[in-house]
Amino acid sequence: MTTAPPIPVRSPLSSGLSGSTAVLVGASSGIGLAAGLLLRSVGARVVLVGRDPDRLKAAVSRVRDANPADDPDDAVLAVAGDGGDERVLAEAFDRAGHVDHVFVTAGGLSGRGPVTALSADDLRATFDSLLQRAFAIARTSASRLPAGGSLTFSSGILVARPLPGMAAPLSAAGAVETLTRALAVELAPVRVRVNTVRFGRIDTPLLRSLPGLDSDEAVTAAGSAVPVGRFGTAEEAAGTALFLMANNYVTGQILTVDGGETLA
Ligand SMILES: NC(=O)c1ccc[n+]([C@@H]2O[C@H](COP(=O)([O-])OP(=O)(O)OC[C@H]3O[C@@H](n4cnc5c(N)ncnc54)[C@H](OP(=O)(O)O)[C@@H]3O)[C@@H](O)[C@H]2O)c1
Repeated sequence: MTTAPPIPVRSPLSSGLSGSTAVLVGASSGIGLAAGLLLRSVGARVVLVGRDPDRLKAAVSRVRDANPADDPDDAVLAVAGDGGDERVLAEAFDRAGHVDHVFVTAGGLSGRGPVTALSADDLRATFDSLLQRAFAIARTSASRLPAGGSLTFSSGILVARPLPGMAAPLSAAGAVETLTRALAVELAPVRVRVNTVRFGRIDTPLLRSLPGLDSDEAVTAAGSAVPVGRFGTAEEAAGTALFLMANNYVTGQILTVDGGETLA
């Protein structure tokens, strides 16, 4: 691996992302969709990836409609498929032609259950879905992102404050954080930065699918226990990913965005 010249100094503000292209793996809902909206608002091109074609189509319309005036045809692209499938990822890069940043929000916490009830097959399924996907995205990003590019993964504060019955998914999520630091070192010579955002509770469809959080009242009541007095918005969460894309001096970091919840 030959060492590339240093990453140039440029504005670390999100506006510095204007004209760049980001692949958003998990972008038809929640934080990924919010990232698409924010990136378009600063003039970046986006490629949205998600499995459900109808949800993806609706997301493309939402992002396009938010900037109707001067959107070129290829400002918002979409590829339907599993973000852990390297053919899907290759298609996303090919469609864009040039990709500067990758943000991964495809996830979830499958494989819950007490450790005594977890079979080897359960574990394989959990690690396959989260960790294999992260490695597939890492391989594609490592071979296709240019010098100055960035890869940002997602994890959650349960990695630091586990709940019972979550050993398998949290081990996989913790491994993604370790992968982040390992890749930041491995990809430093080609000047690709790698970070993870560790989210607290963010008000998205995923959060609202959890038991007891299916109404505004319940979300407000539960959010009042967070030090800032509420849960985060998808936009606040996505803004952290834009910060990590834009700031060329940040790599190998796990950045917590949780309204102070891990302090409480
Ligand atoms: N919201 C929170 O409170 C919170 C807290 C901690 C961590 N997180 C993490 O943050 C990330 C984003 O969460 P969110 O709340 O924005 O979730 P969300 O609203 O459920 O959105 C997830 C998005 O990812 C897509 N997706 C899921 N699996 C995929 C796959 N294999 N390939 C491609 N796309 C996939 C989904 O669309 P399809 O299903 O159609 O593919 C959807 O567009 C997740 O990794 C989550 O675990 C969230």
